[in-house]
This record gives sequence, C-alpha cells and structure tokens, in this order.
Amino acid sequence: MTSTTSIAPAASTASAASAASVAETANLTIEKVGGRIGAVISGVRLGGDLDEATVAAIRAAILEHKVVFFRDQQHLDAESHEAFGRLLGEPVAHPTVPSVDGRYAFGIDNDHGGRANQWHSDVTFVPAYPAFSILRAEVVPPYGGNTLWADTATAYARLPGPLKALADSLRAEHTNDYDYAAARPHAGSAELERHRKVFTSTKFRTEHPVVRVHPETGERTLVLGNFVQKLVGLHSGDSRAIIGVLQSHIERPENTVRWQWRAGDVAIWDNRATQHYGVDDSDDHERTLRRVTIDGDVPVGVDGRHSLLLAPESAPEPVHGA
Ligand SMILES: [Fe+2]
Repeated sequence: MTSTTSIAPAASTASAASAASVAETANLTIEKVGGRIGAVISGVRLGGDLDEATVAAIRAAILEHKVVFFRDQQHLDAESHEAFGRLLGEPVAHPTVPSVDGRYAFGIDNDHGGRANQWHSDVTFVPAYPAFSILRAEVVPPYGGNTLWADTATAYARLPGPLKALADSLRAEHTNDYDYAAARPHAGSAELERHRKVFTSTKFRTEHPVVRVHPETGERTLVLGNFVQKLVGLHSGDSRAIIGVLQSHIERPENTVRWQWRAGDVAIWDNRATQHYGVDDSDDHERTLRRVTIDGDVPVGVDGRHSLLLAPESAPEPVHGA
C-alpha cells in the first residue's frame, strides 16, 4: 500500500487540518514508493526558477525519503539541470573525470564504462563527498538499466546493539584506486585504460568514520560501499568480513527501492544517507544519464572525529561554485 502526502509549499508548518484543505490546491504531491525509502514527487516542473518554499519542500522530502523521483522533466537541459541544482547547494565537478559540458555535469553513458553496478555512495574517496546527486535520464534502454538505492540510515538504525557499537568505533579507508579489473571482469581494454588514465588520474585515499552523524537530520548513517578498501587497524581478512556483515544489512531488500527509468525522469538522492547500484542488464542499448552533484561537508563520526584526507598530500580542489 502506498501513502500519499500533499504538501503546500508555503504551508509546511500548517496543522494537519489546514494541510488537508491546502492539499486540494497543492501543486506538490509526494507518494511513497517503498516503506523505508523512495518517493515520487509530482506537480512540479524542475528548473532554476522554483520559489523558495517549493525548494524547501523538495529538500525536506529528500531528507525524509532519501531518494525522490520526478517524471516528465524532458524540458530540462544541461543549463536548467545545473540551475535547479544550485537551489539545493553548490554544484561540484567530479574530482578526476572531466565534465561532459565543460561545467559540472558528470556523464553516465554505457559506452564509456559508465556502469556503476556495485553498491556505492558517490565520490566517497574524498573527505567532503557530495551531499546530493541529481540524475537526469536523457536516453533509456528498452529494458533493464534500472537503478537501486539503499537507505544507510535505516540500515544503521536496525542493526542489533552490539553491531551498532562495533560500527560506531570503526573507521575505514576509501579510495578511487580500487581493483577495477577485478570488479569488472568483462571490461574491455579501452574501458580499463580509461579508468586508469582518467578515473584514477589522481589517486585519493580518505579515512571516514564508518558511522557518520548526518549534518542536517542528525541521523547516524553507515559510510561504506565499493570505494572502501579496508578498516583502519584491522588486517584485510577481518576488514573484509566485518565490511561484508555491515554491507549486507545495507543491501537488505527492505532497505532498498528500485527505479525503472523513463526518458525525462529525474532522481535526487541524499548521498550521505544512501548507496546506489546501477543494474548492468540492458545489453548494448544506449543509456545516457547526466548527473549534477551538490557539494557536501566533511563527515563527523559519533565520537566527533572528522574524516581525513590521507592522499594525495595536497588534493587539487575540485571545481565548484560559480
Ligand atoms: Fe554513482
């Protein structure tokens, strides 16, 4: 069963009674997709010209539902996609992969090795990894190519006490220099070469707390995913085993939502409270998506310790801002 909430952007603090009456004229409707994660927002045309109250309602929905979906946003192009992104924060370029539009947009094209078929949060190999990712589907395959998201806040909240205590105490090293060939055994030599020359042109290593305190909601979220290389202070066998246990809680189907893309869809996720997975099952059909990411802040663990950049010694500042 789904539940539907209508929000009148200007009346977010309204009482339930007045909210119900406002719902008749509300232009923004939020419908849950799954019990724990995901909602579809309708009644809004995304762009850089949205009023403040609508943006606040969208932001609140992202924080609550972790990933939100919009259908029929075909009017968006690179420019208006970015302009909308600015309403949520500062766009930031990928630290190593050149943008597809000379500005901030990250291309996800299946002919350029853009299959992210491993669970991850975006760019966790740098300290202040993105807060939000805004993904827009330009060309979708006739079948397959779905994306899944998992709620890392619920995953943490539902851990048994002893595992929470263990996770709270751990820190992990993340890197973009992972074994890509092992992760993608069917990758061609051109894809491997591109990965080596572009994706890992700067080799980042960052130490994050395994549990971060979300800067906006105060929730505790698990910070893992495929950029994790090892847990600090443990040998690799123990690292792999413990990461596997915690990651398996994140990936439980109850914590996930799966989206079947149509051209013109937009998905926005809280990258601090989710992992996602692009399913690589659309054969050689074209699949072209464009992502704008919004700058995040440096995570803080439950003990108050921040994430640390371990390498390179001085990181090139990613392009962001105006
Ligand atoms: Fe991603």
